[in-house]
Amino acid sequence: MSGHGTPIKMTSRKCGPLTGIAEVPGDKSISHRALILGALSVGETRISGLLEGEDVLDTAKAMRAFGAEVTQHGPGEWSVHGVGVGGFAEPDQVIDCGNSGTGVRLIMGAMATSPIAATFTGDASLRKRPMGRVTDPIAMFGAQAYGRQGGKLPMTILGAADPVPVRYATPMASAQVKSAVLLAGLNAPGQTVVIEKTPTRDHTERMLRGFGAEISTEETAEGHVITLQGRPELVAQEVAVPRDPSSAAFPVCAALIVPGSEIVVPGVSQNPTRNGLFITLKEMGADITFENEREEGGEPVADLRVRYSELHGLEVPAARASAQIDEYPILSVVAAFATGVTRMPGVHELRVKESDRIDAMARGLEANGVKIEEDEDTLIVHGCGPQGVPGGAIAASHLDHRIAMSFMVLGMAAQEPVSVDDGSPIATSFPVFEDLMAGLGARIVRENG
Ligand code: S3P
Repeated sequence: MSGHGTPIKMTSRKCGPLTGIAEVPGDKSISHRALILGALSVGETRISGLLEGEDVLDTAKAMRAFGAEVTQHGPGEWSVHGVGVGGFAEPDQVIDCGNSGTGVRLIMGAMATSPIAATFTGDASLRKRPMGRVTDPIAMFGAQAYGRQGGKLPMTILGAADPVPVRYATPMASAQVKSAVLLAGLNAPGQTVVIEKTPTRDHTERMLRGFGAEISTEETAEGHVITLQGRPELVAQEVAVPRDPSSAAFPVCAALIVPGSEIVVPGVSQNPTRNGLFITLKEMGADITFENEREEGGEPVADLRVRYSELHGLEVPAARASAQIDEYPILSVVAAFATGVTRMPGVHELRVKESDRIDAMARGLEANGVKIEEDEDTLIVHGCGPQGVPGGAIAASHLDHRIAMSFMVLGMAAQEPVSVDDGSPIATSFPVFEDLMAGLGARIVRENG
């Protein structure tokens, strides 16, 4: 788990053109879901391309604690012998989800309609994050939650012995909340309905369908309505995890800001609930081409060819926020190199991620010579344009992998080196980040550790 060891200070220096092929790891969201749905199925689920980052490994451990047999066969190759819907055993240890909001929230949902108790905790970042957004809807199924003041971890959930199905309109745009409700709905009789105002990433719906659940989605005046028929028999599947667009974002954005670069990032998911960053970058003037568009593992994928580009700032539509919610930190780095102002409204959810990402990016960019404005819901970056980004400062990563990687990318094109106080959280989602970036030509060094 991140944040439990010695902090690793990292520094990134200006580099020559980035070139080559960047094979980024498997999608984090899909990896969590493959393990959880595998654990809730009957038979052996085979997973290839699983992200072996700390977040996902913590979910694998949790699935074992609930009674599934989870085995690694080789790099990215895993199998899960599931216990079936409603078959979770009561864990005899605390479930430590490390840094992972997705892990803890989805697993809480998945166990909430079984007559078992489980206690959840996480690292210092996860223990600060709101869990009420999941405990509220699972209480409607009949589950009870006992946590720290303000709905924080550590927290014990008593699953409902006699669950009832629910109809729930998510109060915030959150795929984690939607997924927790759907996973809880699996072991409730009748229909569970989730209504979202704006659609969020739909991997849970796609994968549930793939595992044999009856699930439908429709657009109505109320919003995006998802209906799940409870108590299906989920049947074990082969899951090929596509590469993670949120990890691809780092080499893609690095290539855009380091002069002379040209890279290819193959097999990146282009799921329309995840591809907002690539659309925004194109609108900023990015030279990105989408080659070999195809389907892999039930997701649309493409090979991305990316060349250094002179970019301009813009107003990023708030309606696109959920399709690029994890990409705002790296987008704000790209915006620092653009000409003109980039305004990013509708991003208040960034305040409750692994860190307060508006604050973390604003303070780190300011320290590195970039002018920033912010309010509760908006981040505004004044691009440095042709004068370039000064750099030369240390940014705090606040136990947040995406903040750490964003500042390492900043250092690749800033005039002076850029450091982060602790790069160890990078291992939660992109354990090969340093090697992969070095292979393209980046100059990142560990100052200790
Ligand atoms: C995720 C949903 C998003 C995202 C997170 C992964 C998921 O969180 O930020 O990294 O896998 O469902 P929210 O549901 O809080 O928006």
